[in-house]
Amino acid sequence: MAEQLKANMILDKNYQIAKVDDRIYGSFIEHLGRAVYGGIYEPEHPEADEQGFRKDVIDLVKELRVPIVRYPGGNMVSAYNWEDGVGPKKERPKRLELAWRTIETNEVGTNEFAEWAKKAGADVMMAVNLGTRGIDAARNLLEYTNHPEGTYWSELRRSHGYEQPHNIKTWCLGNEMDGPWQVGHKTAYEYGRIAQETGKAMKLVDPTIELVACGSSNTGMPTFPEYEATTLDIAYDQVDYISLHQYYGNYENDPANYLAKNMDMDHFIKTVISTCDYIKAKHRSKKTINLSFDEWNVWYHSKESDKQIEPWQVAPPQLEDHYNFEDALLVGSMLITFLQHADRVKMACMAQLVNVIAPIMTENNGRSWKQTIFYPYMHASVYGRGIALKPILSSPKYDSKEFTDVPYIDSAAVYNEEKDEVTLFMVNKHLEESITVTSDVRSFEEYRLLEHTVLEHDDLKAVNTAAEQAVQPHKEGTSTLDNGILEARLPKTSWNVIRLKKA
Ligand code: AHR
Repeated sequence: MAEQLKANMILDKNYQIAKVDDRIYGSFIEHLGRAVYGGIYEPEHPEADEQGFRKDVIDLVKELRVPIVRYPGGNMVSAYNWEDGVGPKKERPKRLELAWRTIETNEVGTNEFAEWAKKAGADVMMAVNLGTRGIDAARNLLEYTNHPEGTYWSELRRSHGYEQPHNIKTWCLGNEMDGPWQVGHKTAYEYGRIAQETGKAMKLVDPTIELVACGSSNTGMPTFPEYEATTLDIAYDQVDYISLHQYYGNYENDPANYLAKNMDMDHFIKTVISTCDYIKAKHRSKKTINLSFDEWNVWYHSKESDKQIEPWQVAPPQLEDHYNFEDALLVGSMLITFLQHADRVKMACMAQLVNVIAPIMTENNGRSWKQTIFYPYMHASVYGRGIALKPILSSPKYDSKEFTDVPYIDSAAVYNEEKDEVTLFMVNKHLEESITVTSDVRSFEEYRLLEHTVLEHDDLKAVNTAAEQAVQPHKEGTSTLDNGILEARLPKTSWNVIRLKKA
């Protein structure tokens, strides 16, 4: 009989990485596909509120405790006129939306989205158009959203029925400007200059805002990491964060390799940190640039079918990935990677939130439901608030097509001092075997085991649908805690959430 696989861990409350910034559990709504129309907004739906927002969707977003939502794009923002989306709805123009080649009705715009976010309990992370537009449109939008009153743009907002400013604190200076697909794509130098000047003007309008500069669209970009270096070299004093985007897919149906892809993400984060710190040193600056991983997820299931969608429709079903169980495992590992970098990754947005590569799906005029990836995202967001700890883990390892020394176990831990709770998040990537993890948690005196939640399924390709939640967590995990030693059996290919609490 094969020997039972084992891993060991020391988890000490003094091995602290940093306080987790809640904004790492952010998400993203773009005017794309059915994210807005048919997703968060559907006035004819029986669940719609007086503003046309689906209450069933808001409830699901609240379950995820999403703290911040990026808006309105994405690629879409690079040819967007924000003025089209404010004022009386019947006067708003229909436009060709160039990024996704659809018709944008502009029924939802800045004010409606700010209202929706408030209802969902989230802040807004607003992106400005640095593709077809620039400094002027950005500073006007900021004056419109944040200036209290008495000026042209603030009074225009008030005349639109929004007396109080929205006070949006986090702003993205464009989107993926390194990508040749982007309308108004820019070289690093061109982007650095417009980010610098737009940032300068925006901080003159409202010095309390924080600005995110675009980094690379993914690790495979030929200009990575030079794009980040050049941009920051130019705009270091104006910006506060640099963005990272990354999506993964299991194109080759190689689960062992697929589940290891958060190692690429880890490498991406480390490289961007080094790049930021190199420019910091070059500038002899005391300021540290942090990371905003403001697009991340699995995205590949829908790529082929999207090619069949006819252009110039209103809200076609674009990017509707139906996630399976193995996707949820990788999403769990990606969340663990963020927690391992809690000292520098201060924001992250799962892309996206509803219907478009999303944890929440809806039927037009019908049901809403949870995809497999909903669960690890919810667990991390709900229980992963506090201080990120550094578990010292020795795990058996494997090699895959692209990666060597992949630990079978991924782990992160968050200590919530106020609640006297500590939560361990762990993924077992082994395709065949359960692994028993023995953890020394003696520094958590008088703690008892609260629960061990597991997401597991025999079929890596199992999916959820509106009719059936085939993949959902249970609380029957096998763990014991005796004399400060936690012994947890992690089933093969599983996501685990183990919560300890002071007795
Ligand atoms: O999230 C989907 C798209 O992916 C976004 O619009 C873009 O920024 C990225 O390429």
